[in-house]
Formats: sequence, structure tokens, C-alpha cells
Amino acid sequence: MTRKTLVTGGAGFIGSHLADRLLADGEEVVILDNLSSGARENVPAGARLVEGDILDTELVADLVRDVDSVFHLAALVIVQECIRNWDLGHQINLGGTIGLFRAAAAKGIPVVYASSAAIYGNRSGSECREDSLPMPISPYGADKLGCEHQARAMAEIHGLRSAGLRFFNVYGPRQDPRSPYAGVISKFCANRAADTPHTVFGDGLQSRDFIYVGDIARGLVSARNRAADSGGASVYNLCTGSEKTLLDLAKEIDSVAGRGTTEITHVKPRAGDIRMSLGSPKLAYDELGFQAETSLRNGLTSLWNSLEDNRKA
Ligand SMILES: NC(=O)c1ccc[n+]([C@@H]2O[C@H](COP(=O)([O-])OP(=O)(O)OC[C@H]3O[C@@H](n4cnc5c(N)ncnc54)[C@H](O)[C@@H]3O)[C@@H](O)[C@H]2O)c1
Repeated sequence: MTRKTLVTGGAGFIGSHLADRLLADGEEVVILDNLSSGARENVPAGARLVEGDILDTELVADLVRDVDSVFHLAALVIVQECIRNWDLGHQINLGGTIGLFRAAAAKGIPVVYASSAAIYGNRSGSECREDSLPMPISPYGADKLGCEHQARAMAEIHGLRSAGLRFFNVYGPRQDPRSPYAGVISKFCANRAADTPHTVFGDGLQSRDFIYVGDIARGLVSARNRAADSGGASVYNLCTGSEKTLLDLAKEIDSVAGRGTTEITHVKPRAGDIRMSLGSPKLAYDELGFQAETSLRNGLTSLWNSLEDNRKA
């Protein structure tokens, strides 16, 4: 029997790659998205888009009743916007997730939801493991952590099966470089292509654990399959376990593009920005058999080539 799957936020960057993968695996895919940061063009042919809001609890319950599992990726993802619109971010990122958990618990189906490395806050000098003390320093990170607590409570009280995935810095095709808060990799690629300088907040020695979006889609599916077979609320890092500074990254992109060196303009550090972010991939490997397979060089090359194709089209 064909598996039927709901992907919230499926018109966005990560959600659309996940939808591609589910369709390729022969699943029927329904996407719930309000297109606030996602785009209709991202929705793959073969998926059904329902344009609506995660805060519409009746719509969410209706959609959940008709599927076998849910991936919940819809969120207000821009940290600076969550700081400006604290209450709205809280409603969408935590309130929307609770509504979705309640609907999934009522139907008795598993949920895999996007948490974030932002729950760890500003840890210096050590890698983040799932049992490290979470200390979010932004409302976005605090609400993502709240989702994990709610998943655990919902497992206790209503038997919800779930997996929360703490994504580190995800990059790849379809990440919108025009957004002022797009991932640093898409922005650096856009700057390289246009031959404009990179803007770096602070000294550029802040580091990140960059993971390719295709690896994330694979990790999401592995987590769903495990959550379907086991009870309770699990949480995993999805990361590579290796870090790069923004200055390293700028160099690597110049090398992939093969056209000289991009100038860097340093400006004041931003409030809420994290200095170092490095994850431990061990638990996801041990329990899900998941390991990132795409090297930074290969991931950047795929991204660069897809951007070149778009520019030529
Ligand atoms: N990209 C990363 O590096 C990263 C890192 C950690 C966690 N995450 C999480 O992964 C998930 C996907 O992020 P992304 O990078 O693909 O971002 P994205 O902005 O491309 O995708 C989010 C999608 O959710 C939709 N959406 C937003 N608010 C909604 C609402 N109220 N109702 C319905 N749909 C709504 C948007 O239109 C968009 O299509 C998010 O939960 C994000 O917090 C992303």
C-alpha cells in the first residue's frame, strides 16, 4: 500500500528536498505551507500543495487524519525576525508544533520535526552532544527546545511517537540567497557570482558545522522509519562532526568557482549570533545508521553548478 505523508513547510528549502525524496521512494506527498518564505515553484510535480497556516488547527487535524506520518518543518526560521516579532515566532514555532503534535497523537502516527542546533546556544570549545546542557540564546532556539520538551510530554500523556532533529547549518540548492537572512553559503555563492564583497559580522572566525540538504532529507526519512517502529520522543543531531570558519568557507567557494578572491567587508557582530557550532554525529549514527555522506567540496560544487544552471536559464 502506498504510504501517505504530510510535509509541513514542504514549499521551503529543506521541505522541498524531502518531498523529492519521498516521491522518489514511491510515497504520496501532501504539503502544508503558507508560502511565507517558501515558494510554489519549489513544490515538486507529484506533490499536492495545500496553501494554509500551521496555526489553523482544524486544517492541520483534517490533513493529519488522512496520512500515515508527518514531517513538520514549517517555522519562522529567521532568528532576527523572531527577535523582532517575539510573540509571532513563539506562536508559530512552538504553538504550531503543539497543535500538530496533538493531531498526530490523536491519529496515532509518528512525527519527525525540525529542531535546531540553536538549542545549544553559545558553547565554546566543545562539540554539542544530545546530552549537552541546552542553553539557547535566541527566542528561536528557546522555542525549538520547547518543541522537544512538548514532544516528551506528549509521549508520556498521549503516547506520541516522535523524533526531533537538531539540524546544524544546512546548505544546498533552493536556499534563497535574496533573503537578508539566507544561509551564509547561498549568500557567499551569490556574492561570488556577482563579484560583490561578502559582508561578515565580526571577525569571520565564527565556525559552523555545514551539512548538505540531500543528507538532511535522508536523515529525516531514517528518523521517521525509526520513530514509526519505536515509541517515545527521541532527539538527534543531524550534522557532519566537522567545523569550518566563515573565512575558510569564503576561500573554499572561491576555489570551487575558480575565479579569483572575493573581498570581505567586516561589520559589527549581530545580537543572538552563535560563535561556534559543532555537532556530534554519533547518536544518529548509532541509532539511525545515519552519516553525512557529502563532503563540503562536493556539496558546494553541486550548489555552484545548480546556481550556474539557473543563471543560464
Ligand atoms: N536551514 C537550516 O540550516 C536549518 C537549521 C536548523 C533548523 N532548521 C529548521 O528546518 C525547518 C525548515 O527550514 P528551511 O531552511 O527549509 O526554511 P524555509 O523558510 O525554506 O522553510 C520553512 C517553510 O515553512 C513555511 N511556513 C512558515 N510559517 C508557516 C506557517 N505559519 N504555516 C505554514 N507554513 C509556514 C514557509 O513558507 C517555508 O516554506 C525549519 O523548521 C527550520 O527552523 C533549518
